[in-house]
Amino acid sequence: MDSLWDGEMESFDLDDTEVLILKVSGAIRAYDGICPHQSFSLVEGQLEDGVLTCRAHGWEFDALTGTSINPRGNALTRYDHQIEEGIIRVRPCIPTRSAAKAR
Ligand code: FES
Repeated sequence: MDSLWDGEMESFDLDDTEVLILKVSGAIRAYDGICPHQSFSLVEGQLEDGVLTCRAHGWEFDALTGTSINPRGNALTRYDHQIEEGIIRVRPCIPTRSAAKAR
């Protein structure tokens, strides 16, 4: 993860799940890489000023918490992770709050 710069994101496959790794304000976060709206890949979106914007329809998420900014009431699924010697280990976890169904 030393290669990830602040404001950058990458995705990779973990079994059959796309995992999004991003770095904001020096903090690493790991989320499900699929947008809760209509399942577009979030790595194709934009990460700017701590806001992750989905490329498909413009939904915005707080990159540090995963909660949606616009529209409100949704959240990304967050993954526990550890960084050891530059290697990130990701473990799926139960979301801290249930994401509302996209409409
Ligand atoms: S799929 Fe992400 S905003 Fe619609």
